[in-house]
Amino acid sequence: MARDTFYITTPIYYVNDLPHIGHIYTTVVADTVARYKRMRGFDVRFLTGTDEHGQKMDRTAKQQGLPPKALADRVVSRYHELWRTLSITNDDFIRTTEPRHHAGVHALIALLKAKGDIYKGSYEGWYCAGCEAFFPESQLVDGKCPDQGHPVEMLKEESYFFRLSAYQEPLLRFYRENPECIRPASRYNEVVRFVEMGLKDLSISRVSLKWGIPWPGDPEHVVYVWLDALANYITALGFGSADQTLYRRYWPATLHFVGKDILRFHCVYWPAFLMSADLPLPEQVFGHGWWLRDERKMSKSLGNVVRPDYLIERFGPDALRYFLLREMTFGQDASFSDEGFLGRYNADLANGLGNASSRVLAMARRYFDGKTPPEPCEESPLRDVAEGAVRRYIEAMDDYEFQRALEGIWELLTAVDGYVNEKAPWAIVKAEGVTSLRVGRVLYNCLEALRLAAVMVGPVMPGTAARLLAQLGITPAVATENALRWGGLAVNRMLGEEGALFPRADVEAFFAEVNVDESKPDGATAPATAEGDLLGIEEFARMKLVVGQVMVAERVPKSKKLVRLEVDLGEGSLRQLVAGIGAQYEPERLIGRRIVVVANLKPAVLMGVESRGMLLAASVEGAPYLLSVDADVPPGTGVK
Ligand code: MSP
Repeated sequence: MARDTFYITTPIYYVNDLPHIGHIYTTVVADTVARYKRMRGFDVRFLTGTDEHGQKMDRTAKQQGLPPKALADRVVSRYHELWRTLSITNDDFIRTTEPRHHAGVHALIALLKAKGDIYKGSYEGWYCAGCEAFFPESQLVDGKCPDQGHPVEMLKEESYFFRLSAYQEPLLRFYRENPECIRPASRYNEVVRFVEMGLKDLSISRVSLKWGIPWPGDPEHVVYVWLDALANYITALGFGSADQTLYRRYWPATLHFVGKDILRFHCVYWPAFLMSADLPLPEQVFGHGWWLRDERKMSKSLGNVVRPDYLIERFGPDALRYFLLREMTFGQDASFSDEGFLGRYNADLANGLGNASSRVLAMARRYFDGKTPPEPCEESPLRDVAEGAVRRYIEAMDDYEFQRALEGIWELLTAVDGYVNEKAPWAIVKAEGVTSLRVGRVLYNCLEALRLAAVMVGPVMPGTAARLLAQLGITPAVATENALRWGGLAVNRMLGEEGALFPRADVEAFFAEVNVDESKPDGATAPATAEGDLLGIEEFARMKLVVGQVMVAERVPKSKKLVRLEVDLGEGSLRQLVAGIGAQYEPERLIGRRIVVVANLKPAVLMGVESRGMLLAASVEGAPYLLSVDADVPPGTGVK
């Protein structure tokens, strides 16, 4: 029998900037759903990709002195790398600069034309390059775009139009007949209200822009970037090509995951284009909320965009995947903070999952010669709890309520702990010996509950699930639905290697290091711009490097690494710097030493102490070696 298909997509990401937490979030969520649906037996197709045309891209490339395609290639390679690191299991990756996509876009436009829904006119209006959208004057807020507050510019040009106005009624009918087509319900209402206010025809070509797909038969125009981009969901399936196999098998999409900011494009324009082309409409669009940084909106200009490479490097991809899904109520906004991340890491992963599993596995190793117990156990209160947790997990995952699904797994882990405390296997062994059937049953129950927890956690933390299963003696294989049934643990089987799943994080050491990194221009948390570009001499000249002489040096209280220095830079008064060199250098031995300092760096506060500059050091696997000067040159001497 043919399996049910499940076609899931992420938005395709703009490549004028490097990926950040928002992009990671949508992709991790989609990957979790794809993995979960595969486990439940669906024939899954999971698509992601990049949106490479448009004015924003054209501008950024010009600013960086690169052809747009070269910039795109560079950023796309970062996306590939990141998705590999995060174990994303997309089946395809579409780039809008690929020929297969161009062919598909032309095929779609041909259908809109054939329907009589395209005409030529002229457009005058306010264009927001940030959102790649026109806005009527009445919608501007303080002369800026109403969605994101970006600057807008007046454009007047000849343009092809799509008769969007003709689709107002059909769209409203479609929403009414398919109340699940937009989720959550609040977003559904938002879209319906928007369409009820009336739809104007949509300009779908640009003449002043060259970076795009040429308009079929009129190459002076390029296709409007949103018509181009939205079509990716079908062009990646071969729509418009000779081979329609994938298109026939997977279209219409089961689920488009998108951020709330691009809901209108997916819930108004996209279904209208598809209706005009007489193609089936996607079953559901889910609009998720935004990640804020420390409660504030992230933006490049604020310099607070989260690019969590440093967290992945330190804590592994699964910890980040877990945090993202556990922390955000799907559909609402959430705030990202390092403190929040570390708190969850220690409480839920190192303690919760890590402790429960290592405690149970250690007992099993001790009592059963490194094997699982000799007999299974049919009835137990823990089994009831575990089966309840599985039911709740399935219900929550089917509803994309990841937070609830994860809470259920963690309740099961707590129940395992409580069960161990109550049954006290060590006391049974003491009273009845290791051959006691009772102790075998108790540990079987615990190990089996852990196995179920590992299977359930798999779509969210695939690497961790595989490790835990391996520790339970189960060769990691793609889990199927059967794996969610109680009783799957084999008896008398060798357990695998020991090892902490999540070593506890030293929060203080982490902050000391992250903060030190932050004060470096190449620090892992510094916003990365113009990636890979060579530095112009004039840019280098903006950096004020000088010789300084250390006059005061002492440890920052409560920090292992941080040292507070007062340095003579020949300015008449001493400069305070904070540096993460305390593990290698005794502060008092630094006094009198000449070092090299970046003197015009923005001040940073490290563990409550202000640092007004940065000393330079060579870094060998994270250990700093101070730069010094060959002769006793006066403090303040420039370094070039
Ligand atoms: N290229 C368009 C999408 C075209 S789809 C046919 C685009 N690209 S984007 O790179 O700007 O954004 C991609 C996705 O990232 C959007 O869903 C957006 O909501 C999401 N995010 C960008 N910043 C975000 C946060 N701070 N938090 C969560 N997601 C956010 O729009």
